[in-house]
Amino acid sequence: MKRLSFLLVIPMVMLLAAGKKGIDSKLASKGKKLFVQKGCNACHTIGKGRLVGPDLKGVTKKRKYKWLIAMITRPDSMLKYDEIAKSLLKEYGTPMPNQKVSVEEAKAIIEYLRQESEK
Ligand code: HEC
Repeated sequence: MKRLSFLLVIPMVMLLAAGKKGIDSKLASKGKKLFVQKGCNACHTIGKGRLVGPDLKGVTKKRKYKWLIAMITRPDSMLKYDEIAKSLLKEYGTPMPNQKVSVEEAKAIIEYLRQESEK
């Protein structure tokens, strides 16, 4: 019995450690700056409610990573062809503009959103 619980504890500890280490805080702080520089904060809050666009708290759990990269780097084409984006546009009525964000920049912003969503 003792041996069995020991065997169960190891993977559990590993899982917990992986979850906590998940956030790259350096990347997230780069994302925090970009969120302002690229004007995202004019239309979005993270946990303070809806503005022109949706509150982005928890969006990293709600959407797939690839979808987020696409939505942040080329919202204009997403709003034309992606079903989720199209239904958001119906709800919010304003098309999110293309802010000329690179994939690398989008990754940093997503890390920031992830960090803020866990608070
Ligand atoms: C002019 C306002 C505006 C700006 C600036 C803007 N967005 Fe948006 N965003 C929206 C709107 C409105 C939507 C909902 C879809 C639509 O109507 O286009 C949206 C949707 C999103 C979504 C999907 C949300 C969900 O619930 O799935 C993400 C993620 C997002 N924006 C991130 C960003 C990021 C990151 C930036 C900065 C690079 C940014 N937005 C800049 C208005 C804006």
